Order: sequence, then structure tokens, then C-alpha cells
Amino acid sequence: MAIQLSDKPLLEWAGDTLAIGLFEDAVELTGELATLNEKLAGVLKELIAEEEFTAKANSTVFTRVAAGNLIRKVILVGLGKPEALKLDSVRRAAAAAARVAKKQKSKTLGFSFPLWNNDPAATAQAIAEGTQLALYQDIRFKSEPEDKGPQIETVDLLGFAGQEAAITRANQIVSGVILARQLVAAPANEVTPITLAETAQAIATDHGLQVEILEREDCEKLGMGAFLGVAQASDLPPKFIHLTYKPEGTPKKKLAIIGKGLTFDSGGLNIKGAGSGIETMKIDMGGAAATLGAAKAIGQLKPDVEVHFISAATENMISGHAMHPGDILKASNGKTIEVNNTDAEGRLTLADALVFADKLGLDAIVDLATLTGACVIALGDDIAGLYTPDDAVASQLEKAAETSGEKLWRMPMEEKYFEGLKSGIADMKNTGPRPGGSITAALFLKQFVKDTPWAHLDIAGPVWTDKENGYNGAGATGYGVRTLVSWVLGTGD
Ligand code: BES
Ligand code: MN
Ligand code: ZN
Repeated sequence: MAIQLSDKPLLEWAGDTLAIGLFEDAVELTGELATLNEKLAGVLKELIAEEEFTAKANSTVFTRVAAGNLIRKVILVGLGKPEALKLDSVRRAAAAAARVAKKQKSKTLGFSFPLWNNDPAATAQAIAEGTQLALYQDIRFKSEPEDKGPQIETVDLLGFAGQEAAITRANQIVSGVILARQLVAAPANEVTPITLAETAQAIATDHGLQVEILEREDCEKLGMGAFLGVAQASDLPPKFIHLTYKPEGTPKKKLAIIGKGLTFDSGGLNIKGAGSGIETMKIDMGGAAATLGAAKAIGQLKPDVEVHFISAATENMISGHAMHPGDILKASNGKTIEVNNTDAEGRLTLADALVFADKLGLDAIVDLATLTGACVIALGDDIAGLYTPDDAVASQLEKAAETSGEKLWRMPMEEKYFEGLKSGIADMKNTGPRPGGSITAALFLKQFVKDTPWAHLDIAGPVWTDKENGYNGAGATGYGVRTLVSWVLGTGD
């Protein structure tokens, strides 16, 4: 699908379907729209009246217009109240319209939308993102595509002359989100630690990043006992992935993004029982997927910021080599951990990744992890938990999330709860009591960051959606990529 800018006035645009964005309770057609309505023999006014269309956010109505016109169909799409219009409302409305246009077998789609915040670049980018994210279909594992209908081939943005750069930006970001969705959606027999390492290498080659893959022996030398403890039952080799994007000039900031990369989480000997969703645990590399997706986007966007993309990738399996519950592991900062639950494995892998990143001398580290069911219980499926002792990084990420429309909510890092991780025999246990389980997980991670401002995002909920939700189809969402990109670009300002 090609997203294009059309310099044609609304009345001269020719194509299958024209999508017109309208504000709530402001559906009386004026200006060009009034002229269009006249040209179409009043069909738009009739449509609005008949359907009692009030332009509530993401509502759509459509009609066929008489033969002989330049267009075949019109979709009216609601943007909600103008004062409540967010950048993400534009993405969602574009997605709603694109879905209707696709169903209506349109091959060409034109958008006539008002501006968000008087900002044509941001508005054009949001329409381009929302459309492509909504229309993406994952047909990799179907022997024959179920959807044999026509696909939307071209999308024209009307009234956005000169916004080529915004479309390019959208395409680069979407390519990162799609990569993340594909990595998460692919099952554990397709995406292994080896696949993640190869993906990192491909990103490095395609977009000029540096890449280093640490093998098991390299990790042993670095004393990564926590990561390797998790990896020891798998027949697949663990891969510690370190991709680096360096700008041409002096970097304005140096950042790290770390993603939990469990390509399958069986729970280990504390195996996930029936009804625990074990069959969904291919998603447990959603943090690594977001990290690689962000790397792909940032490699193309080329900001003035140095970014390290890191994942300690492995599976959590069972075998005669598996960790015993109660084993004591030593992480690369020398801290010892009593593994009282082998299913709290993500934090063990992240521990060594955080120690590694902390030594790089960076301005900030953000990790993303499908870390706890407790976070899903707290915040539900749409919202990630944000955990950080650092108010500045918290507000940077909150701002980035506002731009991306990916929801997150700051959770308390209640130091007192660390008592729940006290061990009689080692420096700490890896698992605390059930109440506040996502907070103790974050407090555990904090033990492995010394100096660098750091934030942790628990993305166990939003990494996946069982049903269509805005511009996300059912399945992997690619959550995190767009927030990370926005965060990185923002720190270079
Ligand atoms: N990968 C899971 C967390 C998870 C749960 C992700 C649901 C996505 C959806 C993680 O490794 C895990 O098993 N966490 C345990 C921690 C517990 C043993 C302290 C959990 O949340 O039950
Ligand atoms: Mn687990
Ligand atoms: Zn896990």
C-alpha cells in the first residue's frame, strides 16, 4: 500500500472512496463539503440525517454516490469533540475509516481530515500510521489467504501538500511496529533466541547499526549467572543481543532500551499449570520485539542520539539441566539470588542485561518486559505499568506515550515491599508475595541499576489483544515501539 499526498482540491479528487473527518455535533456541511454535497445531489446531508450521524469518535457511516462522479463512495468518520481531539484520535479515526473502505472493496482511499493542533506534519503522520497499522494482516502462517478481496492499494492525503517527510516518518515507524508484531505473533518454534539474534543482525546490516551477539561462553565470562540460570534447561543456545545506533555527529544523549526476550516461558520446574495460559507464552519476548522494532525505526529515522538495544534472549524450559526451585544464582554485579520460583525468570534475565547497560555510561535506561500477571490484574489489557524512581524519565515517557497513544500508568515503587524479597540465605529472593507482585518485580530490577536513571515498563497486558482494538487488529500489537521512538526523538531536542 502506498501513502501519497494529493495536491488535488477535494472536489477534483478521483478515486474509490473518500473519507471525510467531522467533529462531533458539527456535522452541518460548510465550504468545500457543502459544494461536494451539492455536486452529489445532497447525498451527504441525507446520509447524516438518515443515520442520525453525530460524528462521535470513531463512528462511521458510508454511502454509494451516483454513477458518473469522480468518486464511488463516501465515508463520514467521527472525530469526537474538537476540544478532546488528541493525536491518537486522528490515528483511530483513520483506522476506522480505512477498515470500512477495505470492507467496501476500495482500492483507492482519499482522506480529508481537519488538522490536529494546527499541525499538518503530525496530522499527516497520524493518518498514515493509523491506516497502515489497521490494515496490516498477518498471513504468514496461512497456506492460503482467507481474505481474497481487493486490498487498498493507494491512500491519498488531501490538503497536506509538502508533508512528504511526515509520510516517510510514518512508514519508518510502522515498519518497526510491524516487525515487533510479527516477532510476537510467530510461535516459539519459529522465533527462537537464534531468530532474535539474526533479526538484530539483519537490522544492523539494513540500517547501518553495530551489532554484537554474546554467546553462552561470553556471558559466562561476564558472570551473567542469573541470565544463564534461566537459559540452562533449553536445548537452544542463549543469545545476548547488543545493537548500537550511533549518530554521525556527537550524540546529544546516550540511551539504552532493554527488552525481555523469553521466546517461550514454560515456567520452568514451577511449571505453568492448566488454565495459566502457557500456550500463549510465545509473547514473552514482547519486550525484545519492541526493542528490535524501535531499532529498525530509529536506524531509519537517524536521530542525534546514541541508542543501545539490548536483550538477553532465551527460553524458560524444563529438563534434567533445569534450575531447581531454591537454587542460588549470582548475577554479573555479584549479587546472589535465591530462585524461590523458576517462573519469575524474566527479572533474572533482565538483571544481567541491566548490569551490562549500566556499565555503558548512559543518560538513561528503559526496559520493557512482559513481566507479571500482577500488572495485568492491576491495569488491565490496554495499559502498561511504568515503574521508576526517576521523575524526569517518568515524565519523558508519559509525554512520549501521550504522543503515541500507547497507554501507560506510573505505579509506586514502594521500597518497604522489598522486605518481601528478603532471603535467609542469599542477597534476595526472586519472588515476593502475590499482593503488589508487579511492584516487587520492579524493586528486584532496581537492585541491578547503580547510577543510571532507569525506568521499567511492564507490558504483559498491552503486548497482545484478543479482539480488534482501534488500529490494532486481534493479536500482537507491537506495543512500545512508537512510545520508544517518540521518547528517543524527544530526548534529542
Ligand atoms: N511471562 C510471565 C508474565 C506474564 C503473565 C506475561 C501473563 C504475560 C501474560 C512471567 O514470567 C511470569 O511467569 N510471572 C509470574 C511471576 C510470579 C511467579 C511471581 C506471574 O506473573 O505469575
Ligand atoms: Mn514466568
Ligand atoms: Zn516470563
